[in-house]
Amino acid sequence: MNYSFNTAELIGLTSENQQLPYSDILKVLDAPTFSKHVAEFYSTNQPTIDSMLGGLSYVHIPETRSSVQFLKDLKSQKLFKYKTVLDIGGGIGRVSSHVLKQMFDNVDMLEQSELFINESKVNFAKNHIRNRFCCSIQNMNTLDLGKYDLIWIQWVVGHISDLEFVELLKNCKQKSEYIVVKDNYSKQGFWFDEKDGNILRGLEIFEDIFKAAGLNIVKQIDPETWPKDLMPIRIWLLK
Ligand SMILES: C[S@@+](CC[C@H](N)C(=O)[O-])C[C@H]1O[C@@H](n2cnc3c(N)ncnc32)[C@H](O)[C@@H]1O
Repeated sequence: MNYSFNTAELIGLTSENQQLPYSDILKVLDAPTFSKHVAEFYSTNQPTIDSMLGGLSYVHIPETRSSVQFLKDLKSQKLFKYKTVLDIGGGIGRVSSHVLKQMFDNVDMLEQSELFINESKVNFAKNHIRNRFCCSIQNMNTLDLGKYDLIWIQWVVGHISDLEFVELLKNCKQKSEYIVVKDNYSKQGFWFDEKDGNILRGLEIFEDIFKAAGLNIVKQIDPETWPKDLMPIRIWLLK
């Protein structure tokens, strides 16, 4: 993939307080063991809101409200219909239920953990999700997905490589004109969490990935309600 910067010169931090160039992190993300490490990490997690939020369940209400507000603000522009939406990496259905079902008629969810999918059948999301696809992002091509008005991708792209992220966006483009990515970003370089295998990319990395997928940024905001002491968060609307 083409980057607008030299990957050997972009320096970031790891959870072990190591300073590394992005070229080293790319090797970790591209290794075949990386997705296994992520899946194993989640297999030890409880199917709760707290674990979906890495132990920060107090952000749940403000962050879901900011997403609903983002969608409400867009509605007047009539960019897309609010009929069908797909939630990628949906976990236990937190976003599907508390954000997407508030705004869309039909919500589908893709998630690789069977445990989380099963939980979404009995918890608050029980009646809020139309179709649940138990599938990894890497295998989503094997699904016979229909078209969506919007695809929402939140807090999952940190667990996939840059190339997989580009592929994901290209796949989503076939299914939906508009895509939302909501994620944390790093103000400098990147931040890599070795424990759960999670890369927090800098804005220049996100932008290079969007460009590589042939997508343009239609709108981007950093929700004001997000706690200032946490890594910043951004919502991008892409087309
Ligand atoms: C931090 S949780 C966020 C869940 C949800 N988006 C939310 O905000 O509540 C990350 C989720 O992504 C899922 N995930 C990680 N890697 C994935 C992959 N390659 N394909 C599909 N889901 C994945 C995990 O199983 C987990 O449910």
